[in-house]
Amino acid sequence: MPQNRVLSGIQPTGEPHLGNLLGAVRWWVADQREGDCFYCVVDLHGLTVAGDPDQRRAASMTMATLLLAAGLDPDSCTLFLQSHVPEHTQLAWLLECTASFGELRRMTQFKDKSAKEGEEAARVGLFTYPCLMAADILLYDADRVPVGDDQRQHLELTRNLAQRFNARYGSDVFVVPEAQIPPPGRGARIMNLQEPERKMSKSAGSPQGVIGLMEDPRDIERKVRRAVTDADDGPDAVRYDTAAKPGVSSLLELLATLEGTRPEEVAARYSRYGPLKADLAAAVVAAVEPIQARYRELDKDPGYVASVLASGAQRAGHVAAATLERAYDAVGLLRSGP
Ligand code: AMP
Ligand code: TRP
Repeated sequence: MPQNRVLSGIQPTGEPHLGNLLGAVRWWVADQREGDCFYCVVDLHGLTVAGDPDQRRAASMTMATLLLAAGLDPDSCTLFLQSHVPEHTQLAWLLECTASFGELRRMTQFKDKSAKEGEEAARVGLFTYPCLMAADILLYDADRVPVGDDQRQHLELTRNLAQRFNARYGSDVFVVPEAQIPPPGRGARIMNLQEPERKMSKSAGSPQGVIGLMEDPRDIERKVRRAVTDADDGPDAVRYDTAAKPGVSSLLELLATLEGTRPEEVAARYSRYGPLKADLAAAVVAAVEPIQARYRELDKDPGYVASVLASGAQRAGHVAAATLERAYDAVGLLRSGP
């Protein structure tokens, strides 16, 4: 039965940045009145890397508050913390018994993140992470999953696991979800302003090239002004050419994404880097300032945010429990009760 169910998640580790907003969160906000949307702060995923308990507590609240500040409306969507709904880890086990070692071994996010301290020291949870992510999605019978381009491979795995499980145990246990990724050059992959060949990330790359959503507007302006461009700054220096001019092309993509136009159209309006950077800085500040103002308001009322998360967990738990029951039954686990 088509129900236009949407699920997405964001990790509460590290400072949320412009890539998160443009690749994911603003699509969540736009979608919340179109579909039946579940949005999850994936705090359990945060445990796959080192972190301090007090910081984790604060980061989960900060992320939930920020999502509300960015425009999620608890009357139009369900916002919750992953660890508040125990079915996520329960279904993850069934999916770990569905996925193969080889396919998890090929996940680029695992390869990238484990490369830091070496595979030998990587947490097993970092390896099995995609199964937990698949559980996040499949529990809610999600038709669509709005994410940035970096999650494409995880979504493909989720689809494979759902199909394999359905083929083994009954064709209608899981809905097979579609990834919903922004168009190329329009938010799918926001790049680090200092390293235009690398995506903007909470955990890697030059911090000078990452624009935090909570950052002081003056720091944002400075980071945009110092963004790496390309050596030539002649009269036709501004061209959209991702191979030959990755620096300026990523600035054009950013401004196009913020304006809702295309990078080629933006390029046509500029000849030099300076004015492009000035307009881009103003557009970024205009996008984040209202979020920051609303964040400051919401932050005064943590009780409100906690109550949103509590009712979100209740609603999510209902849906999740029914799906888990279906999956347990399908694999042949005896159900208790009458
Ligand atoms: P994460 O910060 O890894 O929890 O990501 C949360 C969401 O933001 C996911 O949908 C990611 O695909 C998206 N995202 C993260 N970094 C970027 C980026 N640089 N460009 C576009 N989307 C991104
Ligand atoms: N893996 C995603 C990331 O790193 C976060 C995530 C976890 C997620 N569970 C999800 C995204 C479910 C979409 C749906 O960005």
